[in-house]
Amino acid sequence: MSRIVVVSNRTPGKGPVAGGLAVALRKVLSEREGFWFGWSGKLSEQPAREAHFEDVDGMQVAKIDLTRDDHHAYYAGFSNSILWPSFHLRLDLATIESHWYEGYRRVNGQFARALLPLLKPDDIIWVHDYHLIPLASELRALGARNRIGFYLHIPFPTADALYAIPNHGELMRDLSRYDLIGFQANRDVAAFREFAEHQAPSTFGGLNTKHIDFSRTDVEAFPIGSDPNAFAKLAISPAATKMVHRMKRALGEQNLILGVDRLDYSKGLPQRVEAYEKLLANNHRFRRNVHMLQVAPPSRDTIKEYQETSDQLDAICGRVMGEFAEPDWAPLTYVKRAYGQPSLAGLYRLARVGLVTPLRDGMNLVAHEYIGAQNPENPGVLVLSRFAGAAEIFPEALLVNPFDTDETAEALRMALDMNLDERKSRWQSLMSAARTHNVDDWAISFLDRLAPADKDKSSTRDILYLASVA
Ligand code: F6P
Repeated sequence: MSRIVVVSNRTPGKGPVAGGLAVALRKVLSEREGFWFGWSGKLSEQPAREAHFEDVDGMQVAKIDLTRDDHHAYYAGFSNSILWPSFHLRLDLATIESHWYEGYRRVNGQFARALLPLLKPDDIIWVHDYHLIPLASELRALGARNRIGFYLHIPFPTADALYAIPNHGELMRDLSRYDLIGFQANRDVAAFREFAEHQAPSTFGGLNTKHIDFSRTDVEAFPIGSDPNAFAKLAISPAATKMVHRMKRALGEQNLILGVDRLDYSKGLPQRVEAYEKLLANNHRFRRNVHMLQVAPPSRDTIKEYQETSDQLDAICGRVMGEFAEPDWAPLTYVKRAYGQPSLAGLYRLARVGLVTPLRDGMNLVAHEYIGAQNPENPGVLVLSRFAGAAEIFPEALLVNPFDTDETAEALRMALDMNLDERKSRWQSLMSAARTHNVDDWAISFLDRLAPADKDKSSTRDILYLASVA
């Protein structure tokens, strides 16, 4: 069976694994031969020519160092100040410095040159996310004939937002060098097709995108998931229970409304707090009876727009405290810190409302994890943005327009007033969808689609199944 080579910007480290994605890919790499390739997390004086292998808890990880300037142009620059805001339809927050493209391209070329000598002819290569769109082109230019798949973890933009990206034509041509492109949601597939089929000419656009041939590239939605059964177990683990007890002592009879997000403008945090402010303003009865906890670990904080989001959130949380707090009651707690999975699982289980209201999101795994962690006998309610990929999977959540803070405030009221029967019946449908869209099946279905030639031998699904029953 072919080896699997996973490529991503960040590489996994030793110790407990934080995310479901890393767990699932580790599982794939522990059942099939292969390795993980990506940035080492280190900056060097000279661009590294070769990757060095490390054994990370039994998994082979090949890592490459980048120079400070290249890393800045590639990561903070082109990836996170141009692609990220544009793909999230926040052109107002994009900084279009077109020279960053050269650094982005250089790093993708460096990845390809360091990866190529490690490849066998029948290796299956799975590239992850927007940092590495040109990687297949760069590998093919060096002679790689392998099957190469690309998975975009974030939303695909509308055509107009894509046109605002420097060198978008070249990036689309890069996408056509993959054998398979996976998106989170059907809306992303539709946006991609819209672009591929209707190209707008541009005087300075360089490549005429009309001539991009996507006929050899399969495009499909593969909605990512979590491991809801593992989360259900984790939520009643001793570490989670400790967090539950600690919170219960602090909350008393108050219902908890919980948000957990990286501190990113795409997550709609100021709008979310404003919705909570409206809930308290419009419904006197909730004061002293609810508490909102927002966990928001800092992210990409060298980028100005992220610092501004943090300032905005400070200001609006301060405003809500000033407006509603009393000497013996605080309406909200806001922590800019990351917590481990067990503590989060405990918080999710305790929360009467999981408030997941990004302005735009690829999938949003917090929604999946919140569902997984609920007590089946007394589940909470998920309030979910209709602009998260998760909305396609979880129609039984209370779906809201996160820009409309009146609507979100009303959804909060409905969630807090919802009777047990309705909570149970909604949660049962949500949990069943979370189980159907679990992360293991996600990885398997992508790889089975990318490597159909292996179908006559054992498929990834068979191998993993045999391993799990062994
Ligand atoms: O959602 C996209 C993503 O790149 C994830 O893969 C990652 O966990 C998250 O954003 C954080 O990104 P960064 O690597 O920039 O900290």
